[in-house]
Formats: sequence, structure tokens, C-alpha cells
Amino acid sequence: MKVGVLTGGGDCPGLNAVIRAITRKGIIRYGYVIHGIYEGWKGLVQDGLVKPLDLADTSGILPRGGTILRTSRTNPFKIENGAEKVTATMKKHGIEALIVIGGEDTLGVAAKFSAMGVKIVGVPKTIDNDIYGTDRTFGFDTAVTIATEAIDRIHTTAESHNRVMVVEVMGRHAGWIALESGLAGGADVILIPERPANLDEVCTLLRRRHERGKVFSIVVVAEGTQVRTQAHPEGEFITQDDSIDQFGHVRLGGIGTFVAKEIEKRLKFESRVVILGHIQRGGTPTAFDRVLGTRYGISAIDLVHKGQFGHFVALRGSSIVPVPLEEMVGKVRTVDDAFYEMAEVFFG
Ligand code: F6P
Repeated sequence: MKVGVLTGGGDCPGLNAVIRAITRKGIIRYGYVIHGIYEGWKGLVQDGLVKPLDLADTSGILPRGGTILRTSRTNPFKIENGAEKVTATMKKHGIEALIVIGGEDTLGVAAKFSAMGVKIVGVPKTIDNDIYGTDRTFGFDTAVTIATEAIDRIHTTAESHNRVMVVEVMGRHAGWIALESGLAGGADVILIPERPANLDEVCTLLRRRHERGKVFSIVVVAEGTQVRTQAHPEGEFITQDDSIDQFGHVRLGGIGTFVAKEIEKRLKFESRVVILGHIQRGGTPTAFDRVLGTRYGISAIDLVHKGQFGHFVALRGSSIVPVPLEEMVGKVRTVDDAFYEMAEVFFG
């Protein structure tokens, strides 16, 4: 059997571990031919981006970040005859089954193709940890580790200069990276998309802390946090520009700058912002993400072998289980109230 593998959406540490596991078990244990599909769904919409993957191609890639298959945010259903092109490319290369490694968007496309009869198994990836139906996505642990280290380092400057340091982290519409790195890094306030921010309350917390004799504060803010203003009492997003991608997503970013300026204006505490950006997605994966990626890859090729298509592999507790793809479509796994309320004990 010929199995195609693609990675779509934002790159993420641990992708190469998944590709390596699929290729190794697929070739050695099942005798499959594995084809790499380059640049996500684009690799099936366009010609010339499908190439065989052998053991040598995947040797030595375990500690490497990014994806050897490269990636894109292509949505074939937004391209003229895109879906037909995808199935035609699969047919041309004799690809009978696909393993799709991606986030909410890429797996959403996989669910559509699966409903059309394409044999697909999904693997959930994203630093955001926001895929519904799995307890963890690989990449998240690395992003939290990088953000925590950054917060630890930022403490030094905050303390030395009596400053408020605002650290903006990624995570799109889920606050997992902010909450876990903020907790691990001892942040004094954490703002997440699940709770539109009230800056009066943030300033009260910081003032109280400074009145207790603390000379600095660390605020961690997730890029997708909305700010409540008089004009937008429900909260509004801060975006980098007006652009929207093929999945309808705005480019988030800039909330940290806004929050730092407001704190300085209202409290007269010298404030600075650090936007961590893509550093959170870059570089070598943690051991946890290498192992989780490997477990996902092995389970995905096992599902192909069992003929259990239309599912993605998910971590539930300590086990990897198959979950129907349609269960994650249109949903986002967000931070629950209890977890945030626990973190609030350390605010201010
Ligand atoms: O989904 C991963 C992610 O890093 C989000 O946290 C972030 O909003 C987005 O991708 C950034 O996308 P891009 O790399 O296309 O700017």
C-alpha cells in the first residue's frame, strides 16, 4: 500500500518525530511505500510536490524543529476545483491512504475529504493545545518551556529596573500557553482569550502588589485576549493588520503593546513589552513532544494498517485512542474556569 503523509498549518516542534515514526513503522513493519506530500494541502492541489520518503530521509530528524515536509495554510476548498485536484494527485501517484498532521484547520479539511470517501487518519499538532478531543497536542510542551524560560529571564530586568514587563505569547483563541507558562514563570497577572480583559482590574491588582512593597510585576498576555473598552464592552481583538487567511483567521498580535501602554498611562509604572512570537514555535522539541509525536505517529500508521480511517489519534489520560474526525470539527478546546481560578490565587 502507498501512504501519503502531509503536514499543514503552522510548523510546530515534534512534527519530524511523527513523520519519522510513520515512515519507520510503515516501511519496516508493514512493508508500505510512504510518500511525503510537501507544503500541506498545497502539495496535493499542485503537481510536483509528492516524493517517496525512505528511512534515510527520516534519519536524524528527531531533534529537529519544523517539518522536513514543509507546510502551508492552504485550504483546497477555497481554491477552484481544489478538492478534485487533491483526489486527482492522489490517484496519479497511487496514494491509497493519507496521514494528515495538522491543527484545527488542516484536520477540518481532512474531515471533509474523509466524508467524501478518502481514506484518512489525522494527527493533532499545534503549539496552541486547542484541538478538541485530545488532552494534549505535541508542540505545546516545547512552547510552554520556551515561554517559561523567557519569563524567568525577563524577571531579571523587571526587578533591576522596577518595571512592569508585559510578555505576549501565542495561542490564538485559547489561553493554554499563557496560563501554563504564566503559572510556571510566576506571573503576577495572566490574561487569556477565555476571559476578556478589564484593564481597571489589572491595574488594581498591580497597584495592590506595588503597595505591598513589590517593585516590579510580570504580566503574561495571550495574543487572542480581547480588551473590554467603553466602545467594546464585550471586548475587542487587537490584530496586526486586516488580512485574513484561507481559513478565515485574522493575524493576532499587538495586545501586549496595548496593555503595557495602558498600564504605564494609568499607574505611571514604567512598562515594557516583549512579544515572544515565533520563537515559541522554533527549535528543538522537548523530550515530551518527541515522545508524544512518536506515539502519535506509530498509532496513526497502526490505524491505517487496521483500516480504521476517518479518525485522528488523541491522547486521553495516558493512552492514545482513535477519535472520529468529525468530533473536532468547528470546536476549540479552551481553558476551563477551574484552572484559571486556581491561577488567580497568585495574581496581584
Ligand atoms: O497556531 C499556531 C500559531 O503559532 C498561533 O499561536 C498563531 O496565532 C499563529 O500560528 C501564527 O501564524 P503565522 O505563523 O501564520 O503568523
